[in-house]
Amino acid sequence: MSTTDEKPFDLLVRRMTWEADDVLSVELVSPDGKPLPDWTPGAHIDLHTGDLVRQYSLCGDPADTAHYRIAVLKSPESRGGSSFVHDELRPGATVTVRGPRNHFALVDADAYVFVAGGIGVTPLLTQAREAGARGRPWQLWYAGRTRSTMAFGEELTALAAHGGTVELHPKDEHGRMDLRRVLGGLPEGAHVYCCGPQALMDGIAEVCAELGAADRLHVERFAGVVVPSPEGGESSFEVECSRSGQTVTVGPDESIVDVLDDAGIYVDASCREGVCGTCETGVLGGVPDHRDTLLSPAEQEAGDVMMICVSRCASKRLVLDI
Ligand code: FES
Repeated sequence: MSTTDEKPFDLLVRRMTWEADDVLSVELVSPDGKPLPDWTPGAHIDLHTGDLVRQYSLCGDPADTAHYRIAVLKSPESRGGSSFVHDELRPGATVTVRGPRNHFALVDADAYVFVAGGIGVTPLLTQAREAGARGRPWQLWYAGRTRSTMAFGEELTALAAHGGTVELHPKDEHGRMDLRRVLGGLPEGAHVYCCGPQALMDGIAEVCAELGAADRLHVERFAGVVVPSPEGGESSFEVECSRSGQTVTVGPDESIVDVLDDAGIYVDASCREGVCGTCETGVLGGVPDHRDTLLSPAEQEAGDVMMICVSRCASKRLVLDI
């Protein structure tokens, strides 16, 4: 897990392409032709879409420093992100982005099993390519509603010629994907990467737990998980800012990042749902109550960083490195 202090920057929309029903890919380039910041498979960028900031996985080629590619599904429940891209963004427009950052990096493993649901295929596409480049065997299982809704199917099938296997699983042809079959032959030492709808990620987590492989599962979420409030409701707690010496009180219905902002202590925040990592902050004292979906159990236990947009305090007071 790394903390970055990168600033937003502008990119030019060079091309938009229909990749599948309701899926547009967007190719972004630097307006002055300078190389774009490096990234690794699994990385995402923050894209400013009107008043909102949304996270999209990079799904191009990391070796190509002239272009970024993202793919955006038009969601009927869109709160502005995907409808902005589909209905307003056009080639020639300038967009503001930040990143890339990677909380879904490919660890070194003997083999990889990738499980994609719908647009969740985007980070896995680049990871499958990387697995092949590392000379490791890989499988990619890709579920979608219908074949016409599944972006990058042909690209993946071509990729499978380089050391992997790809199984496309349109639901209207094959029914629901059997996750026990997907992980039934999980090779020893293989790591599982999953991105897609919540139900798919929950199902894969359940099967991994049954197989004793929970510590080899990596998931990428683009929406926060709703954590139920503890019995009796949330409590207030104090946050001491070690650098400024200021102390603030965070009420039951407030977030740390908002209270700090009100006190004139600005911390970068993007998703505000605990999924992007922008607000990651060092912890110098106290016990964080982690509510994000980024930190691994080991990172949570270490307790030296936390996402202050959603996470709270399990003790009376936190001391943060801000
Ligand atoms: Fe995205 Fe906190 S702002 S994790």
